[in-house]
This record gives sequence, structure tokens and C-alpha cells, in this order.
Amino acid sequence: AGSGKFFVGGNWKCHLVSCFLISPCILKQYTQNGTKESISKLVSDLNIATLESDVDVVVSPPFVYIDQVKNSLTDRIDVAAQNCWIGKGGAFTGEISVEQLKDIGCKWVVLGHSERRHVIGEDDQFIGKKAAYALSQGVGVIACIGELLEEREAGKTFDVCFQQLKAYAGNDYQLSILWCADAVSSWDNIVIAYEPVWAIGTGKVASPEQAQEVHAAVRDWLSKNVSADVASKTRIIYGGSVNGANSAELAKKEDIDGFLVGGASLKGPEFATIINSVT
Ligand code: G3P
Repeated sequence: AGSGKFFVGGNWKCHLVSCFLISPCILKQYTQNGTKESISKLVSDLNIATLESDVDVVVSPPFVYIDQVKNSLTDRIDVAAQNCWIGKGGAFTGEISVEQLKDIGCKWVVLGHSERRHVIGEDDQFIGKKAAYALSQGVGVIACIGELLEEREAGKTFDVCFQQLKAYAGNDYQLSILWCADAVSSWDNIVIAYEPVWAIGTGKVASPEQAQEVHAAVRDWLSKNVSADVASKTRIIYGGSVNGANSAELAKKEDIDGFLVGGASLKGPEFATIINSVT
């Protein structure tokens, strides 16, 4: 782990949340489609978990459950949205604005996730604008970047990640917000999540060395393109098949400042193990 405060996010995506029910003679897994009941179980597991105090923890439920989670989850854990609209709310059917997220107590938003890039089709510029607007409204951004398998195999990992980083930092809004001399406080509200696409939901986690190599390169990019101060303060977290068994090894790496966890964050006790893996 680096020098910044460890940061662990649980991205619940649009997943089914599993409930394990135990009867006297059977252990059976009932999978329910993100019901309020199954979310309640996950929240109560998190509420009773013992968590390292020196770790920022955030969970990101589907929009429709944010209010429920916000009203039942311990204040120890912050809530993030999984997306937001690009600017001020208005006549944009089906969208959720940053103002609405703030109204229900969301402090963070996950942007640029590979599923939004590669499944929904969001591009760098669109994502960069969303990030800029969220930051301008005081909502922190978990800014995802990461390469596809074919890009890694073609030796383009750094190029892809730098291009995506540039889009967060380089559009007009952010030129004024982030690249000016007094912009450092805005970078305090950004956590960069390196999530190699080939490692997401595949069980194929990046090795600690593979992750460290990219994290160090991202920090170096920040140093050369923003400032040494921002480079040293910005948390760079890793995501992609992180679980309770591999998180401690990853957390030992000097530039890994936390995790963005998908599947394993749906199990309260395992998510707590990941949070507590900070070294
Ligand atoms: O945002 C978290 C993520 O995409 C990783 O998902 O299921 O591989 O931990 P998972």
C-alpha cells in the first residue's frame, strides 16, 4: 500500500445478491434478484463487521437501492453511485443527475467503468465530462481506467491507460478545475481505479507485479502531467477479481492504495477481509 489512506470500494453492479439460508440439515443458496431483503442482509453483515479504522470504505448499490442503503448502512461506510448524468439535471429521461445523488447523500460516483465503456459504449470524452461535472458539484469520482486483453497483448496497456487518464484531466471543464495552480483540492476528490478488463469478473486477477507496474506508470503520468504533489497524494486502487484470498498480497505493493471489488463485495464477511488487508 502507498502512503495515502487505503480506499476500498464495493461495486455491487446490477448483480443478483445471494442469500444463504441454513436449515437444520441443508445449506441452500437462494439467489434473489437484488431484492430489498437481500440488500438488507448484506447491509446488516457490513454493519456488524469489524473494519480497520484507517481505510476509506465505499459501497455502490444499484440506483434504486441507494436510498435504502443510505438509510440503513453504518455511517462508517460511504455510498457511491454507479453512474451519473453528464451535467445539470433536466429533461433527460432515464438519467440520474449529480444533484439528485447529492440529495440522497451520495458522496462518490464510479465513472468510466469498463462495462460502461465496452458494453454501453461510453467514450473517453463523455466520461471525462461526467467526471468534471461531478467534481464541480463536490461529488468524488472513482475514475476507472484499464486495457482490454488484446490491448495488453499488443503492448498497448500504458497507451490505453494514459489516453483514458487524459480524458479525465484534459477536457475544458477540468482544464480550469484541475490543471490550474489551485486545483490540488479537486484531485483530492478523485480516486483512480485501474481495472484491466481481462481481470474483471473472470477470476483471472492481475498478479501483484502486473498491477504494480501499471499503478507506478499511472503515478508517473500524474507526476509529469499534473504535479508531483498530486501524483503522491492520489489514491490508485486496483480492481479485477479481487477476493479475500488475494487481496493481502496485492495490498503489499507500494503503489496499490486499495481496491474496487465487484463479486466479492456482495459477501459482507469477505468484503471485510479485503478492507482489512491493508498493510
Ligand atoms: O468495479 C469492480 C470490478 O469491475 C471488478 O469486478 O467481480 O472482478 O471483482 P470483479
